[in-house]
Amino acid sequence: IMATQDELKKQAAAQAVAMVRPNTVLGVGTGSTVAFFIDLLGARNQQTPLNLKAIVTTSNRSKEQLEQNGFTVSELADIDQVDLCIDGADRVDHHLDGIKGGGGALTLEKNVAINAKHNVWIVDQSKVVDRLGGFPLPVEVLPVSCEQNFRRFEAQGLQPAYRLKADGSRYVTHYGNYIIDLHVDPLPIPAGLAAMLDSTVGVVEHGLFLGMTDEVLIATESKIEHWTR
Ligand code: A5P
Repeated sequence: IMATQDELKKQAAAQAVAMVRPNTVLGVGTGSTVAFFIDLLGARNQQTPLNLKAIVTTSNRSKEQLEQNGFTVSELADIDQVDLCIDGADRVDHHLDGIKGGGGALTLEKNVAINAKHNVWIVDQSKVVDRLGGFPLPVEVLPVSCEQNFRRFEAQGLQPAYRLKADGSRYVTHYGNYIIDLHVDPLPIPAGLAAMLDSTVGVVEHGLFLGMTDEVLIATESKIEHWTR
């Protein structure tokens, strides 16, 4: 019998819950895999209180779920350093580089990750790729120069498209910006593309997370694979 994708996500999440140490500062990401993590973390905390020093998270959805599980959520600004950050990913390659931001929260996700001592991604096997691609790369852009940047991406062959809401209007991020999804696939030289985006005025952040993740737990049909940098 094949495990469903949800069962695989839950298995990876359970493994990550076991990595959480008492009396530490925990970062919690966003997504359907992390949703399993939060409920399992809550269950563990009920049995044996973890006495976490603080928890920060990357979306209102995760915040609400953490609170439902009895946790108090802090703001990143009030935290010196996150000890361990658990998050999902949209794609991950064998270098532990990945694409994130399918949920539109890439800027906060990257800010939490960069301030964490140890970053762990939990994914099911469907996220693993040989070359980064197979998922549009989100780029958060300031409205003031978004049209120029959109045309520049077009001229570069990056196949940009504004992310839209169900009503057809532009998706607006938590910070009041737009998301341009780059549909080029596979991504041409991720490190070069990341450097270009990092140096583009008007780009707030992008969903390429390169060299930032220390461990990936990948739930496959037969076992949990454990990749470390
Ligand atoms: C949110 O913006 C993303 O980066 C998520 O971490 C990613 O989409 C993973 O979500 P799932 O666990 O639902 O696939």
